[in-house]
Amino acid sequence: MKVLVATEKPFAKIAVDGIKKEIEGAGFELVLLEKYTDKVQLLGAVKDANAIIIRSDIIDAEVLDAAKELKIVVRAGAGYDNVDLNAATAHGVCVMNTPGQNSNAVAELVFGLLVYAVRNFYNGTSGTELMGKKLGIHAYGNVGRNVARVAKGFGMELYAYDPFCPKDVIEKDGVKAVDSAEELYKTCNIVSLHIPATAETKNSINHNLLANMPKGAILVNTARKEVINEDELIQLMEERPDFKYITDIMPAANAKFAELFAGRYFSTPKKMGAQTAEANINAGIAAAKQIVGFLKEGCEKFRVNK
Ligand SMILES: NC(=O)c1ccc[n+]([C@@H]2O[C@H](COP(=O)([O-])OP(=O)(O)OC[C@H]3O[C@@H](n4cnc5c(N)ncnc54)[C@H](O)[C@@H]3O)[C@@H](O)[C@H]2O)c1
Repeated sequence: MKVLVATEKPFAKIAVDGIKKEIEGAGFELVLLEKYTDKVQLLGAVKDANAIIIRSDIIDAEVLDAAKELKIVVRAGAGYDNVDLNAATAHGVCVMNTPGQNSNAVAELVFGLLVYAVRNFYNGTSGTELMGKKLGIHAYGNVGRNVARVAKGFGMELYAYDPFCPKDVIEKDGVKAVDSAEELYKTCNIVSLHIPATAETKNSINHNLLANMPKGAILVNTARKEVINEDELIQLMEERPDFKYITDIMPAANAKFAELFAGRYFSTPKKMGAQTAEANINAGIAAAKQIVGFLKEGCEKFRVNK
């Protein structure tokens, strides 16, 4: 069995070494296609691959057509919108992601952004502390749970809203589970977004919802830019000079936000949430383990296509 690692932006060497150990330890062959610059190279490399590990690499119908022996693609990371799931299903290829492997990295960044915001972007003026503030965790998945864990160290009061997560799962972590997004936004000084971008959540963070937040509110977004209704957030921030927005996903209207809301808006220049050595290693090794489990035992945990 041949396992291909196809990464335009390669894994760290230590991650590749870990992947190699898993794959070769299972008696499979590992082939590397790193830093490729042309799709033709990918089309050539996939020809005899039985499994592929990718990062943000595009796996579309053309790649799947060329990969005649392919059984599984694993995206080392959380988001898998770079894989054409319907085409994979049509080709009988299983697609997986590696959920949870970068959650701590994203959670730590939330607090990096928050301390920066409450200390007025280090502009020399006196700021506030996170201790004792009410933090609303909007979606209690892998990242949301890690945010709760770290927030406890800061002495924050925790609330969460996730209609798909049982309340007792939330409350056993010492987090108050609320019944609606409105209640979360009404209650909390700071809301941290951890919802996925779905048909239901796109544009759902709008003026009506945000207007519930108390004076001095902060919205922090390490989820997806599509969940924000940017026009309505701009309108709200124009009405509310007390409102701060900090994000790891640059809005389409970044220039406008930066111009209008200097001193209370910040975006990372490039999505940084999962960009740590540890997340890189964890996701790569998890991908290798999932491939071994699938090829040896038919384990389909973490499959994302039908
Ligand atoms: N900034 C980054 O680099 C980075 C890295 C990883 C993940 N992310 C993003 O962070 C978000 C969360 O990732 P995760 O790994 O925790 O995902 P996850 O799948 O573990 O959790 C998502 C949670 O959202 C909940 N949810 C779904 N629809 C909801 C709704 N309408 N209202 C409230 N809750 C809802 C689900 O029940 C689930 O608990 C995703 O948007 C992901 O794309 C960003």
